[in-house]
Order: sequence, then structure tokens, then C-alpha cells
Amino acid sequence: DYEGEAIKRAPVVTVMGHVDHGKTSLLDYIRTTRVAAGESGGITQHIGAYHVETPHGMVSFLDTPGHAAFTSMRARGAKATDIVILVCAADDGVMPQTIEAIQHSRAAGVPMVVAITKIDKEGADLDRVKNELVAQEVVPEEWGGDVQFVGVSAKSGEGIEALLEAVLLQSEVLELTAVPSSPGKGVVVESRLDRGRGSVATVLVQNGTLRKGDIVLAGLQMGRVRALLDENGKSIDEAGPSIPVEILGLDGTPEAGEEFIVVSDERKAREVANFRQGKYREVRFARQHS
Ligand code: GTP
Ligand code: NA
Ligand code: MG
Repeated sequence: DYEGEAIKRAPVVTVMGHVDHGKTSLLDYIRTTRVAAGESGGITQHIGAYHVETPHGMVSFLDTPGHAAFTSMRARGAKATDIVILVCAADDGVMPQTIEAIQHSRAAGVPMVVAITKIDKEGADLDRVKNELVAQEVVPEEWGGDVQFVGVSAKSGEGIEALLEAVLLQSEVLELTAVPSSPGKGVVVESRLDRGRGSVATVLVQNGTLRKGDIVLAGLQMGRVRALLDENGKSIDEAGPSIPVEILGLDGTPEAGEEFIVVSDERKAREVANFRQGKYREVRFARQHS
């Protein structure tokens, strides 16, 4: 399936935690300082999916909402990822979606790095948060466990460099590789219908390379990639492993979490998509009439 040379690839990191514990602020800080520092790296404007270049290597990030309603999104995020940054606010401690995020990471077999956020705040109490996480069997290395804990502030930037280092250290342990010369394959992060451009799908390439002109099968949808847009909305010709990218040209909007693959035969792809759509309608019909 993956003939060709395997090379090291960047880690895909999903940020999870309770609502308002500072996931997006943390990623915003990483993103803007990188951009401000003139590093190559950028921003995905429509969803929290982008990659940044750090002095230690590239990292791709997926943001997730902490609201209770987004349980399935977090479960999918955990599956699409190599490492979870578990965010827990220093002034608030372990909350229901913190525990849920731990469960998703474990279910997906994905290692965690803990970011204790908002350490600049008045009520910050790192030891309390650590104890609450230990109660969930998430034990910091300095207490004899196997999880890296880093205190951070998205206001001052304190600890963020150390957090990136912890993530990349964890990534080294995982020895992540991919085969860029194979056909592109990955997961749908988000999709929507745009008035002017039609279907716009944000996908994460997990292996191989996705190119402009490729025929893609994604869940119930298929199509020829008319354009690939990077995180800044700039048109690019291809996206390799661990890169999030927007694609135009699908027939419809695939569900978040669906797999996508590049296929060589357009007619076969259409047959598969049609077959899947038929099955989907059958199941939906059966549900409505049972
Ligand atoms: P959801 O996506 O809604 O779950 O929230 P989130 O986890 O992405 O949190 P968000 O980044 O939206 O931050 C929530 C609030 O906390 C905002 O008002 C931020 O300004 C504040 N905040 C986030 N990080 C920090 C921090 O390090 N220090 C302080 N003082 N405030 C912070
Ligand atoms: Na928020
Ligand atoms: Mg957020």
C-alpha cells in the first residue's frame, strides 16, 4: 500500500480540555508569535487546524471546542491525532470535559502532554490541579508518573516554549514516519458549502501526498481536487503528510472524521460514492420507519 521511502513526519497534536480553559488562546499565542517572529508557518482561518515551524521541527495542531455538545468531535479529534495536549486551567482544575478528554485520549491510545493554563491568574494553584489529575491517574513525571506537565500562560507566553519542547520530545519517542511518494490519504476535519466556491473541505493528510487534480473519495462524497489552499488561503499544488489543507472540488460536504483517499479511477470512485450514498439513504429510511 505504501511503497516508497518512509521519512520522519511532523506530529499531529489535538488540543482538548474543558470549555474556556484556554485551548484556543494557547494556540493563538503559538501561532501569532511564530508569525510575528517571521517563522514559516501559518494559520487555518476557518477551523483550528494549522501547522507551525518551531526551532525543533514542525507541528500540526487541531483545536477542539470544550463545550459538552462536542463530545463526538473530541472523540474524532483524538483518533486523528498523534499526541493530545490536555489543557486544564490552573484556577479551575479538573472539570467534566477534562475527564472526558482523558478518556478519549486513552480510548484512542494517544499519549498526553498536560498544559496547565492560566498560571498568571490570581487563583492559580498548580499543585491542586496536579493532585486532581493524579486522581484521574494522569501522573506527572516529577511525581514518578509518565506524563509531561507544563504550566503555561497565553497572556505572558510563559511556559509555551517548554510545552512545544515537551510535545516534540513525545513526538521523537513515537518515531512518526510517512511515505510522501504514496497516494494521499487522511481524515476530514471539517467541511462546508461556500456560496461561490461550492464544497470546501478541510482535510488532514496523514500519509502520502495530496495533489491538485487528484480524484478523492471522502466518505459519501467524491470529486477531482480543483484547488488546494494552505492555511493562509493561498493556492498550492500539493500537501504532504501531517499537513492540514482545504480542498475544493468535492461533490458534496463529507462528514468530519470521515477518511479520504486518493484513487486512480474516477468512474470507480463515483460508483463507490453512489453505493455509499444509497446505503446511507437505506439506513436513514429504516431508522425513520422503525
Ligand atoms: P472553548 O473553545 O470555548 O472550549 O474555550 P477555550 O478552551 O478555547 O478557551 P479560550 O482560549 O477561548 O479562553 C477562554 C478565556 O480564558 C478567554 O477569556 C481567554 O482570554 C482566557 N484565557 C485563556 N488563556 C489564558 C491565560 O493564560 N491567562 C489568562 N489570564 N486568561 C486566559
Ligand atoms: Na472559549
Ligand atoms: Mg476554543
